[in-house]
Amino acid sequence: MALPITFEHVDKRYALKSGASLTALSDATLSLREGTFTTIVGPSGCGKSTLLHIAAGLVPYEEGSVRIGDEFVERPNPNVGMMFQSPVMLPWRTVIKNLMLPFELLKLSDEKAYRERAHRMLSTVGIDQFADAYPRELSGGMQQRAALARVLLTSPQVLLLDEPFSALDEFTRESLNMELLSLWAELLPTVCLVTHNISEAVMLSDTIVVMSARPGRIIGEIEVPLPRPRTLEMATEPEFQEIVVEVRDLMRGSSVPAPQGGR
Ligand SMILES: Nc1ncnc2c1ncn2[C@@H]1O[C@H](COP(=O)(O)OP(=O)(O)O)[C@@H](O)[C@H]1O
Ligand SMILES: [Mg+2]
Repeated sequence: MALPITFEHVDKRYALKSGASLTALSDATLSLREGTFTTIVGPSGCGKSTLLHIAAGLVPYEEGSVRIGDEFVERPNPNVGMMFQSPVMLPWRTVIKNLMLPFELLKLSDEKAYRERAHRMLSTVGIDQFADAYPRELSGGMQQRAALARVLLTSPQVLLLDEPFSALDEFTRESLNMELLSLWAELLPTVCLVTHNISEAVMLSDTIVVMSARPGRIIGEIEVPLPRPRTLEMATEPEFQEIVVEVRDLMRGSSVPAPQGGR
């Protein structure tokens, strides 16, 4: 089960302490079809996290509308899972108890069944032997695996991932990305992932959305026609590299001053 995400003409301004305001998003319009994998790339500070936080119902916006399925986003929605750059584990709880958090927060029923699914999900991401360990006893990669297990356990129809593996070394990141792809193929939520790594975006996505420097506007969408399942070897193929260049050119165009009469 999956739900589409629709942003229409969204403007977001943050009020600064000085009394001034900062425009983080300007006229953002974007549709993510249900069950697809979309990646957002753009320069640092262009409003990528802001866009995800708005979709997650974590921050308000001034203009436009955002919908998950038919519902306007006004508050966090239990059908929407969000994963942050750092794993956000409660340090005083064991891994399994951290995975039980959504069960408690969402006041779900059948604790035993949820706990069993939590253990199965920990096995799927390869860390069930650490179920009773504390987060500090896990490496960064293992903590992110636990965070991924926790968000997938709630069977979200929409999965928002904000640079989920960017703090990890390249090897760990690649392997977690491939695992993410196979879990996505199984559960098929609508995924919106933010990254600043163009190759990662091509490897993962159906569609790559490119944003301009702040105030963030959407300047292009690039379809990735590579077949699935994707493999790491695909990254060496000319077809893959051509898409990397296309995304890079679009991003580069966004960071230099517009020529006379140009965009
Ligand atoms: N809570 C906030 N208050 C004020 N400014 C913010 C806040 N959150 C983000 N910003 C600013 O909004 C802009 C976009 O931020 P963000 O969405 O985090 O960008 P990105 O994720 O693309 O790096 C940045 O200039 C950032 O400094
Ligand atoms: Mg960010």
